[in-house]
Amino acid sequence: MKLLVTGGAGFIGSNFICYILARHRGDSIVNLDKLTYSGNLRNLRGVEGDRRYKFVRGDIADGRRVRKVLSAGFDAIVHFAAETHVDRSILDGSAFVQTNVQGTECLMTAAQEARIKRFVLVSTDEVYGSAQPGEKFTEESPLAPNSPYAASKAAADLLARAHFRTFRFPVIITRCTNNYGPFQYPEKFIPLVLSRAAGGQSIPVYGGGMQVRDWIWVEDHCAGVDAALRKGREGETYNFGAGNEWPNLEIARYILRLLNKPQSLLTFVRDRPGHDRRYALHCEKSQGELGWAPRTSLEEGLKQTVEWYTSNADWVRHVESRGYRAYYRKHYERREATLAKALAHGGRK
Ligand code: NAD
Ligand code: DAU
Repeated sequence: MKLLVTGGAGFIGSNFICYILARHRGDSIVNLDKLTYSGNLRNLRGVEGDRRYKFVRGDIADGRRVRKVLSAGFDAIVHFAAETHVDRSILDGSAFVQTNVQGTECLMTAAQEARIKRFVLVSTDEVYGSAQPGEKFTEESPLAPNSPYAASKAAADLLARAHFRTFRFPVIITRCTNNYGPFQYPEKFIPLVLSRAAGGQSIPVYGGGMQVRDWIWVEDHCAGVDAALRKGREGETYNFGAGNEWPNLEIARYILRLLNKPQSLLTFVRDRPGHDRRYALHCEKSQGELGWAPRTSLEEGLKQTVEWYTSNADWVRHVESRGYRAYYRKHYERREATLAKALAHGGRK
């Protein structure tokens, strides 16, 4: 297959490119990425000498640029490019609407004009909103996003559905739970715990830390997207989850034990507004139709992740030097200062 991958310089996109090139010798990939703060070509050093791989810088919301890229001719598009961090979307949602909604619409329209035969939209489990205890979402569950990020992804997801219904656009939608593994930007919880612990810095745990996420090893997600690309039915949606439901506090404690760092680094901070309590998915459809199943246990995946971040401290330093510290200060330290002030005045948390 000749593939166009968008957002391939990010965490999951770069893992996906390496995954495909290692497993499908006949495939070639063009990676279209704007290189925002989370896009990093260092993630792709392992394939940059591969003649089947090419990088093109560009914005998916730039119609002219996208059409030019598509004029090279592709069998399929795998669309990862997005603004992805919930906390950033709470600070300012405008880039989320621009890239995740406008950009996805622009890309699908150009793909339709270019008569692309397959388009995989990488959506997320966050479109379903928060699951009640014991509840699990199926692909038919209603969408009820709670953050500006999740709402922008839900809008893209629904636009894809509409393009299928209206134009028979050959789209397949995937919705996966929380990924972890190499090359994840350290604003996300697991790499944040790892990088803060390594520096002996406090680790912010939102609320009581009892929110539950289902953690999936990134390569298992890549295998799911690959299966959806090759075996998925047009117009269908596929959930991917790993059944690894852990409260955040337990994950953080477990990582600190692996690193042999003190539990006292954990610091409870004010909760994320609109924080989803729990994510959980039924994945029988992807297992039955695509023959997909997650392979990596959380214990094994975390062990590998800890090893990767420990031996790639220069990668963490590099990404943190590109505007990350300013974001961290703005987001956490201001919240902490406000909270400390409120508590000093007897205010409510
Ligand atoms: P990431 O933030 O690490 O990477 C996003 C990539 O998109 C970056 O390389 C960035 O430069 C690029 N990008 C952003 N705006 C762009 C634009 N306008 N044009 C072109 N490129 C642009 O994100 P990630 O965690 O790798 O997530 C990838 C996709 O998977 C997203 O669509 C996300 O919603 C989805 N997803 C993520 C998870 C998760 O746990 N991380 C789970 C389910 C689904
Ligand atoms: O579920 C899939 C989604 O997972 C993806 O669609 C998103 O792109 C991805 O960012 C992720 O969203 P979350 O909000 O679940 O991930 P995050 O790593 O930001 O947070 C995980 C949990 O940890 C969440 O309950 C909030 C909590 N948390 C997070 C941070 C950054 C903390 O307690 N402290 C923190 O500092």
